[in-house]
Amino acid sequence: MILLDGKKIADQIKAEIAQEVIQLKAAGKKIPHLAAILVGHDGASETYVASKVKSCEKIGFGSSLIRFENTVTESELLKKIDELNKDKEIDGFIVQLPLPNHISVDKVINAVDPKKDVDGFHPANVGKMTLGLPTFLPATPYGIIELLKRYTIETSGKHCVVLGRSNIVGTPVSILLARNAYPGNCTVTLCHSKTKNLKEMLLQADIIIAALGKPEFVTADMVKQGAVVVDVGITRINTDKNPKGYEIKGDVKFDEVAPKCSYITPVPGGVGAMTIAMLLKNTLLAVSK
Ligand code: GUN
Repeated sequence: MILLDGKKIADQIKAEIAQEVIQLKAAGKKIPHLAAILVGHDGASETYVASKVKSCEKIGFGSSLIRFENTVTESELLKKIDELNKDKEIDGFIVQLPLPNHISVDKVINAVDPKKDVDGFHPANVGKMTLGLPTFLPATPYGIIELLKRYTIETSGKHCVVLGRSNIVGTPVSILLARNAYPGNCTVTLCHSKTKNLKEMLLQADIIIAALGKPEFVTADMVKQGAVVVDVGITRINTDKNPKGYEIKGDVKFDEVAPKCSYITPVPGGVGAMTIAMLLKNTLLAVSK
């Protein structure tokens, strides 16, 4: 079993981007600047956004964190998005999800200028991705693809079972892995809450992408010997075992599944680390848009 070390690969990618920043500076060109909008105080969102901002600082990008309380109105948020769309200093920005229920996620995503949409969530960018045209790929699916690539994992003709059909992970990763490209050329089965024979599906999988947000859902009896398992889950479970008061669990029961795998991602230190690196890569790309 080989561990897909997302942390190590993400550090490599960040080092590559930092080199590019040095070159941009030397050439007197604009330094990439990422802005993040955070609404409310959700613990996980706070952690992700803080990590995104810190990573920007480390690699030499500019960064801005724009905070709103949970009570922000939809029109106030849309006004800020409009400002960021027009702000020449900012190359790309994200609105951290989830948002409070009184705000339409669709309206927010549609309001972002596709040229600054480094999350790759705008319908124009989703459409381009689906057609295989160059665009911003959503960071988590992009991170999964990049991880498979950097470990030179064979994907052509493989059966890939994706668990979860979210717009952020399951749906886009299923599209990317089915494309006529490397990594890609998989036969993809996209499973979701209404799928009936889930275990049978999983047992046929050469590659499993678990992105359903149910801690330790995938157990050893659901996994074929030699499978590649990518765990996208990051659920906080309350515990008094550590000072933080919580521990992070993936969607895969790692200890029992890992011995059956050819490759598996750990949680944490797998896909999560890659997501941030790919967001930075998209921000670098945004400078030239
Ligand atoms: N919430 C969970 N994942 C993401 C992501 O990739 N981007 C944004 N904006 N919000 C998220």
